[in-house]
Amino acid sequence: MDVAVLESDQVDAAARADLRLLWDRAFRDRFDDHDADHAFGGVHVLVRDDGRLIGHASAVPRPIRFGDQPWRTVGYVEAVATDPARQGQGVGRLAMTRLHEEISNRWEVALLSTGRATGFYERLGWERWLGLSYTRTGAGVVPDDEHGGLMVLTTDPSVVVDRTLPVTCQDRAGDAW
Ligand SMILES: CC(C)(COP(=O)(O)OP(=O)(O)OC[C@H]1O[C@@H](n2cnc3c(N)ncnc32)[C@H](O)[C@@H]1OP(=O)(O)O)[C@@H](O)C(=O)NCCC(=O)NCCS
Repeated sequence: MDVAVLESDQVDAAARADLRLLWDRAFRDRFDDHDADHAFGGVHVLVRDDGRLIGHASAVPRPIRFGDQPWRTVGYVEAVATDPARQGQGVGRLAMTRLHEEISNRWEVALLSTGRATGFYERLGWERWLGLSYTRTGAGVVPDDEHGGLMVLTTDPSVVVDRTLPVTCQDRAGDAW
């Protein structure tokens, strides 16, 4: 398997098309154009086998507020996917482990939101967020509905993040988290 690390502006049109096919296969109807947009603007790990794209993970900078602390930029993990035909073979772990290196070079804290893959990320050192989550919109800060899938990773051992705090993101098109 071949692992490539690319900034978003290095991902060419052919790779973007391959990525969309991968995401559509892996997420099925749970992936839309907004989700695809959210995956860009940071750093990507692409896993290929025999030239074929079989895995992806990316992280993008996002302003986040923990409790009433100042807003800070965290790495936000997006669009993690393994080709369904290759799941359960360590591809996702490979992509995420490499992405963790990139995250630790750029940000002290990383967040992600997952529906069904909590156990996958827990095995990789991520922890569930225990506090409530909010979204800052044009109309003010609004509480999210039940949000059980938020997870955090700290890449600097000297940084302690209180997982019971409320956490706020900035609104965006598509899913805010
Ligand atoms: C989640 C996903 C990326 C995992 O990729 P993968 O290549 O199959 O994962 P790996 O083979 O590297 O698995 C690594 C470990 O996580 C475990 N694992 C994989 N998927 C899991 C899941 N959904 N829930 C719990 N554990 C999971 C594996 O059993 C393995 O455990 P082990 O180390 O004890 O053997 C893949 O199933 C996928 O693309 N799913 C659809 C898209 C999706 O939901 N992405 C995540 C969105 S946030």
